[in-house]
Amino acid sequence: GGGGGGRGGGRGGPSRSREETGSPYAGSTIKVEEPVTVKKLAERLAVKPGQLLKVAFTQGGMPFGSVNINTLLDEDTATLLSHEFDVELEIVREVEAEEALITDLKKKRTGVDEEELLTRPPTVAILGHVDHGKTTLVDTIRSSRVAEGEAGGITQHIGAYQVTTQHGHTLTILDTPGHEAFTAMRARGAKAVDIVILVVAADDGVMPNTEEAINHAKAAGVPIVVALTKMDKAEANPQKVVSQLAALELLSEELGGQTAVMHVAALQNQGVEELLERVFLESEVLELKCHEHGPAAGIVLEAEVQQGQGIVAHLLVQDGTLNRGDIILAGEGYGKVRSMQNDRGKTVETATPSMPVEVSGLSALPGVGEPFYVVEELARAKEVAEERERKSRAITLTERRSIDAQALLAAGGKTAEVINVIVRADVLGSVEALKQKLSALQHEEVEVRVLHAGVGAVTESDVLLGSTSDALLVAFHVGVNDKARLAAERAGLEIRYYEVIYELIDDMREMMEGTLAPELNEEITGHVEIRRIFKSSKFGQIAGCYVLDGTVSRDSKVRLLRDGTVVYSGAISSLRREKDDAKEVRESFECGITLKDYQDIKEGDVIETYRVVAKKRTLADSPSK
Ligand code: GTP
Ligand code: MG
Repeated sequence: GGGGGGRGGGRGGPSRSREETGSPYAGSTIKVEEPVTVKKLAERLAVKPGQLLKVAFTQGGMPFGSVNINTLLDEDTATLLSHEFDVELEIVREVEAEEALITDLKKKRTGVDEEELLTRPPTVAILGHVDHGKTTLVDTIRSSRVAEGEAGGITQHIGAYQVTTQHGHTLTILDTPGHEAFTAMRARGAKAVDIVILVVAADDGVMPNTEEAINHAKAAGVPIVVALTKMDKAEANPQKVVSQLAALELLSEELGGQTAVMHVAALQNQGVEELLERVFLESEVLELKCHEHGPAAGIVLEAEVQQGQGIVAHLLVQDGTLNRGDIILAGEGYGKVRSMQNDRGKTVETATPSMPVEVSGLSALPGVGEPFYVVEELARAKEVAEERERKSRAITLTERRSIDAQALLAAGGKTAEVINVIVRADVLGSVEALKQKLSALQHEEVEVRVLHAGVGAVTESDVLLGSTSDALLVAFHVGVNDKARLAAERAGLEIRYYEVIYELIDDMREMMEGTLAPELNEEITGHVEIRRIFKSSKFGQIAGCYVLDGTVSRDSKVRLLRDGTVVYSGAISSLRREKDDAKEVRESFECGITLKDYQDIKEGDVIETYRVVAKKRTLADSPSK
């Protein structure tokens, strides 16, 4: 039958029969608890899920294939769909243990005298293009600064370490590969990095990853200090680099801008001290305030399972003081800090702001970039951790991709869709073949974008990239390492395994077709002439009609034609044969019609009835670009 569920009326009062298309709750407000799926909303509205889907699609223009009964609806979309049934929606969120806890922690923090706040050392990430000298710079910093007066220097890899400049200023340098740290942290809305050192080789200049790094830093609102490395080389051309940077809106001080550009020759240990000092200076402007004492809070830099140790987390303290024995909550993990080591592998009893430490004692692996808090009661930490686990499971079970109201309103789907894909394959040949086949799949309204393709198992960093960019992870003849699997489960990210290329390509094609808005065709179903007009106190102006050709049905869409021009277009609010409601009236019969929200009808007007027929499109239907 024709679409248009929910258009059953809503004007004629509650007595109107709407058992076919309406919700019994029309005109009232219903409550639904989050998360709201199509299925749950249909249940609460007491309509069939299929009916709700039909409305989503006919009224809302949601693309076919993108919605099913398990689709998670965001608040705006759910509200919009309910309105189609004349129902007001109240979305109920339980006040969660987590929210209550965070509010409590915040309360404890406020009220502390501003003067008691301390300035903490800055946390620095080093980003830059391949081979521009990041590792060399880090090595130089480590060997010349950290090891000073300290036997052994940094022996451990814990994701970050602290260095002290000759002027006694301390900096925390993140050790994780720059981009990953950024995407991971940003994916969780956390901020670990205060300043970025952008490494640019003076002999090579701005390269793609340089630009990417600048974009990352800008998006995160983090200031940049440029380290112009390899200045000892004969080919070094600092002027060229400075103007390349200016073209990317990174204006050096030399050119009257704000960005510090420091000259470095890391192999010769030249300019490194000045670089660090300058980074510290920049951090002073940021006024990185923290509490010296009180319960610690910070961020997870790394977490892993170690033989005999259980779960070990690398934490960066950002506020307060962390003590051995404190109860911490991080992601879905909680527990007492059993042991704590600093960046030199030394056991410590306390950790102050900007100190990276390795702790054991958590009950579950937290994700990279997850914030951690010290909590007073173990029971409360447990409650929140369990709540998080429940929630992440609930979200994984329902479909993660939620549909935003924007897309729903933009019927016709004019904006080009992008399907992001990350590919992992066993050999380089397959990687290349897959990349090539995937990018050959083109259509003017939907595009497949391969964000990353590489040889080997799916890694945690693939999952991070995938979850920040809502990508599909494809594993071709490869597995997934344990950490990546955990991360994917936590993020609700789908990993698809393939053995045969054409199966992948077929699936991709199907996904692409799923994003194509259906082709909507109007099909004229009949013409009805208005021959007499009756006035009814209950219904207003009723048109006494004769069906000239075709049919008119209660859910017909209509246009009112007067002397060949359209004076109204909309829907029918009631259709009657004799004294009874009718579903459909055919050619050569008489009927009474009232139009929705329109009274100004005249004898001789013609009502043209039509319906909108949706046709699923395939990639072949319209020419590719
Ligand atoms: P990836 O980790 O592959 O992204 O590279 P990277 O940025 O860590 O570069 P890395 O430090 O490995 O340096 C690349 C090459 O540049 C090495 O051969 C270094 O010896 C050389 N190099 C790094 N810094 C300097 C420098 O200041 N002067 C000179 N002459 N060579 C340098
Ligand atoms: Mg390196």
